Amino acid sequence: MRVQVGIIGGGPSGLLLSQLLHLQGIETIVLERRERAYVLGRIRAGVLEQGLVAMLREAKVAERMEAEGELHEGFDIAFGGRRHRIDLAGHTNGAAVMVYGQTEITRDLYDARDAMGGLIVHEAVDVTPHDFDSDAPYLTYRKDGREHRIDCDFIAGCDGFHGASRKSIPTSALKEYERVYPFGWLGVLSETPPASDELIYSNHERGFALCSMRSRSLSRYYVQVLVDEKLDEWPDERFWDELRMRLPEETAQSLVTGVSIEKSIAPLRSFVAEPMRHGRLLLAGDAAHIVPPTGAKGLNLAASDIYFLSRGLIDYYRTGDESGLASYSQKALDRVWKAERFSWWMTELLHRFQDRGPFAARIQRAELDYLVKSSAAMAALAENYVGLPYE
Ligand code: FAD
Ligand code: DHB
Repeated sequence: MRVQVGIIGGGPSGLLLSQLLHLQGIETIVLERRERAYVLGRIRAGVLEQGLVAMLREAKVAERMEAEGELHEGFDIAFGGRRHRIDLAGHTNGAAVMVYGQTEITRDLYDARDAMGGLIVHEAVDVTPHDFDSDAPYLTYRKDGREHRIDCDFIAGCDGFHGASRKSIPTSALKEYERVYPFGWLGVLSETPPASDELIYSNHERGFALCSMRSRSLSRYYVQVLVDEKLDEWPDERFWDELRMRLPEETAQSLVTGVSIEKSIAPLRSFVAEPMRHGRLLLAGDAAHIVPPTGAKGLNLAASDIYFLSRGLIDYYRTGDESGLASYSQKALDRVWKAERFSWWMTELLHRFQDRGPFAARIQRAELDYLVKSSAAMAALAENYVGLPYE
């Protein structure tokens, strides 16, 4: 079988790329290792920048998001027993973020791909990219015990941090940058009304906590935990008690708790692999970079990669112009590193670093105090949080 672009990974990056290319008449296939129910069961990001919102509109998958998503023009930072609002819109000429879950975006993309007759293979085993340093790359995989081969012009590696694409590149051709944090986020989804109308990022001596939401009746909460903690050590009651202790008293008192319908621990990591293009293999999203979740940038960075990559491929097929593909890696990485910086900074600002001692804790408190009193500092936070431009 032959397609123009073979896509490894059916997460948001791969599905969005496939949808955008198909709308321009470019043939793709998506090879996904897991079954669809598994992909749709993952609870991940929830805050979308306007750039991603615009991409979803362009991909014609924005209808449900427009109806069910919520625009947020600010969020709170809590510390020292008080909440302080960061006015996103006021510091950015009216920009806002959209609260709508990654799980819902993935569902909308699958529905759109199915409606257009898009080719998606689930439970594709041992997907392997070949000969991407030549003009005739191809993919192989196994499905139901049979071997398959897909010839293509380009391969898009959209298979996440643990995928096969980046691993198929010789280590001598990759430069990797990494920081692993000594903690993770324990997340709970519950069918309860959110703690507040907007998100609350809380810095506390016991550790970071985040109150987020998916809708007016579905809440998402996180608490910072040690990286090696086990889920079965965190029954719901313990989670709610810990969350309450890390919130200002008034917020804790009004918190509505319930049964968790999902609970998971995610490690925190900063990671970048450069470059993002190797001949005819192009990496995008978590396959090329990871941010700690504090700035809500992971999914949004995947979207900006797909913006640059889809334009490069569309120009190539429309006019033969290869300049967009030639500059893909540089353009994507320029934005990736700024989001890496911001995510690292938000992580340092808000978490408890047990090993750093009292001096670092006082510096952190001074930075928080400065932030919520300085319009310039809040503007810098707001500008990054709503998303830097795609340029
Ligand atoms: P993925 O979503 O990882 O999709 C990759 C796809 O490729 C998957 O479906 C996978 O099954 C498939 N795949 C993997 N290997 C292979 C293979 N060998 N062959 C074929 N297919 C393969 N971001 C935030 O902003 N906020 C959050 O709260 C947040 N929470 C997160 C929690 C977790 C546990 C994780 C892992 C990430 C979280 N992120 C969060 C980050 C955000 O979800 C990711 O940045 C986003 O999913 C990236 O999309 P992607 O399509 O590039 O990668
Ligand atoms: C969510 C996750 C984040 O990492 C974040 O910064 C804000 C919200 C969420 O899952 O809702």
